[in-house]
Amino acid sequence: MKLKVLVLITSIISFCVSPALAQMGDSNSAANTPRLNTTDRFVPVIGRAGMVTSREKMASQVGADILKKGGNAVDAAVAVGFALAVTYPQAGNIGGGGFMVIHLADENKSIAIDYREMAPSAAHRDMYLNEDGSVDNDRSKYTAKASGVPGTVAGMIHALENYGTMSLKEVMQPAYDLANDGFPMYNYLQSSLNNRRERLMENEAAAKVFYKADGSSYNYGEILKQKDLAWSLKQIMDGGKDAFYKGEIARRIVADQAAHDGLITMEDMANYVALERPAIVGDYKGYKVVTMPPPSSGGVHLIQIMNMLENDDLKSKGHNTAATLHLYIEAMRQAYADRSKYLGDPDFADVPVEELTSKEYAKLIRAQIPADKARRSTDIAPALNLLVESPDTTHFSVMDRDGNAVSNTYTLNFSYGNHMMAAGTGIMMNNEMDDFSAKPGTPNGYGLIGGEANSVQPRKRPLSSMTPTIVLKDDKPFFVTGSPGGSTIITTVLQSVFNVLEFDMNAMHALAAPRIHHQWLPDAVMIEEGVSKDTKDILANMGHIIAPMQFTLGSLSTIMYRDGIFYGAADIRSMDAAAIGID
Ligand code: GLY
Repeated sequence: MKLKVLVLITSIISFCVSPALAQMGDSNSAANTPRLNTTDRFVPVIGRAGMVTSREKMASQVGADILKKGGNAVDAAVAVGFALAVTYPQAGNIGGGGFMVIHLADENKSIAIDYREMAPSAAHRDMYLNEDGSVDNDRSKYTAKASGVPGTVAGMIHALENYGTMSLKEVMQPAYDLANDGFPMYNYLQSSLNNRRERLMENEAAAKVFYKADGSSYNYGEILKQKDLAWSLKQIMDGGKDAFYKGEIARRIVADQAAHDGLITMEDMANYVALERPAIVGDYKGYKVVTMPPPSSGGVHLIQIMNMLENDDLKSKGHNTAATLHLYIEAMRQAYADRSKYLGDPDFADVPVEELTSKEYAKLIRAQIPADKARRSTDIAPALNLLVESPDTTHFSVMDRDGNAVSNTYTLNFSYGNHMMAAGTGIMMNNEMDDFSAKPGTPNGYGLIGGEANSVQPRKRPLSSMTPTIVLKDDKPFFVTGSPGGSTIITTVLQSVFNVLEFDMNAMHALAAPRIHHQWLPDAVMIEEGVSKDTKDILANMGHIIAPMQFTLGSLSTIMYRDGIFYGAADIRSMDAAAIGID
């Protein structure tokens, strides 16, 4: 009786207080009506003809405008990729590299494009070692030798030429305009340029672009123009890939490398190619999880962890309860231990992708997780450790009205890469060489160890954690996801997928929920604000070591598609990120 009265009161309240919300429907709504539960505290952006979500709103708008003009998801994604190189110079880039996963609706075909940077041909295994054999950590991060041959231009053009519908000029025009005419300084870029000021000011070309003539910063709302970058974009618009890899841009990048003792030559530039690799496709309770293969470790370990927990009833254990988080932590611990030993560029190392992503292996390692007791990482094989990667990278997701989807993560590695702009190009150069293992088998400057599979070799691609992912339901894109965050990318993407598939969260809730991260070593779990003290106490009593949090985990840009409606979400952790839907 009491329960009935309570239900009645609750329905009256929900109708009186929020009739609009009550009308938004629930999971029984008719097709073409937004499906949100009346209890949802987080609401995604809604679009009926497509969605673009990225870390920076002017770039999201560029993608939305391309979709409105009739471009497909690939056209829009390429336009966003070039636009972010202008409006989000910390990680958007043409001087770096990344990975793109595409699903084409018509052909029911998934494609994975590897446009990761490549080590110059003069690179060698010991190039970051001092004479005494110790690792020089600055050399792999903040010098011209930190840069690999950039892959972004080749990757974007490969995607457009093979799967887009518009011309390179059309999709690059907005990026060119943003660089040439400028855009108003916005909050996040302003803080980021303030934080990186000291190092960026050391590079004459970067200092000239990002700070005023008297060395002062641009204020919020003041126009930032990037004329040299506009020149580079125009060269690419007119001359295509060759303008970047063989023409005047290449000459300027190579001259800048030579001036700063870097290794990249004209031959290295001319030899760069973007590669299509077979996507990793995991099978999870009837969903297909399409994700990136090596040289990213992201896809392998996403699927490995999902497989390990497939037979646990996570839903009844509850979202972010100690019981669920214990399983997450132990599965992550094993996956990152494996990563340190087995993962590297598949063109150079024998990477056991099939074994690591097999259901049999998952069962075997799942069986070793104790029910309510933490293991110690030192007891988990293999004995080698993994690299630490910087948290700055960026992700965007796009879907169009025909059901095509693009999930793209790309990066300069650190914010602003090695903090060096190639003179006369406006192009920030990556420091992706730091993602190699500088000294396999021996602790580096952070006390960490990397595997031989990821040692430096000429023309090899460094191991990554980027995890652009598209989840298919009945062979159609249902959830598009991805995030920056260095080594935390894999676990961030994993939790977005579990939140949707296991805990029925909408796109925004799935990304707003607090996240955790464990990466084998150091043996400590990071837990974002929002998980209760009670839960953390239970985990600590099981023996889990809880790390102090200094930052949030990742920045997801996701899209969910169901019954003719696109639900977009840009991470609430990120100032100036935006999902933009079109109708
Ligand atoms: N540089 C970060 C990554 O590739 O995972």
